[in-house]
Amino acid sequence: METIRTIAWMKEAARQARAESRIIGFVPTMGALHAGHTALVQRAKQQCAPVIASIFVNPKQFGPDEDFAKYPRTVEADSEKFTNFRTYITVEGLSDRLEGRSRPGHFRGVATVVMKLLEIVQPNFAYFGRKDAQQVRIISQMARDLNLDTEIVVCPIVREPDGLALSSRNAYLSADERRAATVLHRALEATRAELAAGVRDSLHLQAVLRKVIKAEPHAAVDYAEIVDADAFEPVTRIARPCYALLAVFIGKTRLIDNLYIEPVGDSGELAYHL
Ligand code: PAJ
Repeated sequence: METIRTIAWMKEAARQARAESRIIGFVPTMGALHAGHTALVQRAKQQCAPVIASIFVNPKQFGPDEDFAKYPRTVEADSEKFTNFRTYITVEGLSDRLEGRSRPGHFRGVATVVMKLLEIVQPNFAYFGRKDAQQVRIISQMARDLNLDTEIVVCPIVREPDGLALSSRNAYLSADERRAATVLHRALEATRAELAAGVRDSLHLQAVLRKVIKAEPHAAVDYAEIVDADAFEPVTRIARPCYALLAVFIGKTRLIDNLYIEPVGDSGELAYHL
């Protein structure tokens, strides 16, 4: 492994790899690495060499009251100040709902930094986790709209044995909160059971999500919605690919998770991805 510390150096290394017709894979992260991140790297290694992973705690995607200052950093805080930075990417229509509503400006910050990273590395493939479903939807839209030569690859959610999705923010949880945090997975499992029993009505499924979360004293729902997997707009019935999306406060820590629901064939049967 080689550690590259400047943009100029990264551009030169990527240019050389391209000149040698190598297939570049890219995994952007904010560090505090866990098995969710390493799974993306493993997936990238199956298709690409070299695989480049970035670590940058991006100030642009944190709101003023969010946890930028205390976000777990395993490398030194970046000293860049962005005082004269003026260019932003906004993916319209997808960025203001759900995560975007709870975190104004978040996706503008994400899209902008990912665009910068993709421009620096110019990878053939870039790998993102489905845990951040709205994020990868927005980045795929950006890649298409801006004619990027990078294929965006969506990878499955990596979980703890008890179902909790791995997240750098899990480190904020107390022991009690850590136990309570499985409520996201439990709520999604309950929804999956309803679907398996034939329920297709979104309001009913949403009520199930909320009921499970309400029963957990440490948890408070931020949003619990069934949305179309393409438009991220609410649906009334499950008839095309959808997400059950959750954002839940466990104490002061906000966690997200989702269930991907996909009709298979014409029989009305569904496939579930937790
Ligand atoms: P970060 O939260 O560090 O996540 C980096 C990548 O790891 C994202 O694609 C995310 O979806 C994926 N990931 C995180 N937890 C996962 C899990 N449990 N299973 C599978 N994949 C998981 O997302 C960001 O950073 C930033 O917004 C970034 C894209 C780097 C831009 O700053």
